[in-house]
Amino acid sequence: MIIGAGVVGCAIARELGARGVLSTVIDGRPVGGGATQASAGMLAPYVEAHDPGPLRALAVRSLDLYDDWIAAVTLESAVEIEYRRIGTLEIAFDPAHAADLRRHTRPAGVATEWLDADAARLAHPALCAIEGALMTPTHGYVAAAQLTAALARAAERHGATFVRAAVHRIERQGSTWRVSTAAGNWEAQTVVVAAGAWGGAIAGVPMPPLRPVRGQLLHLGGPSRPLSTIMWGPDCYIVPRADGTVLVGATVEDAGFDERVTAAGVRDLLDAACELLPGEGGATFLDARVGLRPATPDELPVLGADSRHPGIIHASGHYRNGVLLAPITAQLIGDLIAEGKRDPCLDGFLADRFD
Ligand code: GLY
Repeated sequence: MIIGAGVVGCAIARELGARGVLSTVIDGRPVGGGATQASAGMLAPYVEAHDPGPLRALAVRSLDLYDDWIAAVTLESAVEIEYRRIGTLEIAFDPAHAADLRRHTRPAGVATEWLDADAARLAHPALCAIEGALMTPTHGYVAAAQLTAALARAAERHGATFVRAAVHRIERQGSTWRVSTAAGNWEAQTVVVAAGAWGGAIAGVPMPPLRPVRGQLLHLGGPSRPLSTIMWGPDCYIVPRADGTVLVGATVEDAGFDERVTAAGVRDLLDAACELLPGEGGATFLDARVGLRPATPDELPVLGADSRHPGIIHASGHYRNGVLLAPITAQLIGDLIAEGKRDPCLDGFLADRFD
């Protein structure tokens, strides 16, 4: 059983199904209805983890899986997924930020290009006056809602079942786990908890500490000059979609489980977008979305078997990188459940680090 029908839960269900393991995915929300629906789907490990460390290592492994993973999921689901490796341009407005960006390490073999102010404006005429910018061409984005729908469809084709019910409690019942919801109880030998920020509120088995971090995201009708890459400014990022519209993200707010779009959130994102790309002032306001990212105290995910509660497997706490980390999470959890194979990298992500 998998608790959570977001991008991570659906990716695990599809992975298990492809390896011949049937699962039931259970969630009170529709597929992709939690944090996933407000994700810009950024695939940018060298921006999200500027320095080497466990998050960067995991995210780079996951990005390396992406091309083949998208091809396989598209084939299995027959759902088109917008996926473009168009790079990121990290923008500095002042010399100190420029120096900071230039110091960020990238391993040998990862191409980057530093653009001074003139070169950046020449290549990207929509930009305001800047100090300089760092281009990382291997980055990109994927349409998170399409991806999650495709993963769910692929999982179903492999035999997974989706149940719409909010999970309140998980408790031991003889040799199995009882998963209690308002719509009834389910029994399972193995329970994967991929419920995002809401996982922390499940009673019975102690869950890792997870707090919601609100992210608001805007959808704007295209700028006059189309963007050829993802713009990453000091106060917002802007993702150009294939249809000419852009996504502007995202706020980072401690607001508990409050899932409202706020006037201040929209104002701050619009101000930041219009500062970076002055032409955005003329864009059409299409939509504002909100999601709650699941953050652990060290902002690293919780992955792998729970050493105190055999049969409970964690796949949560992906914070800003649920979409980016979905393929590697599915692979690691698939290895664990389908083959009893435990990747050594899981040592850095276990739930018991919070004991
Ligand atoms: N990955 C970007 C964000 O969480 O806003």
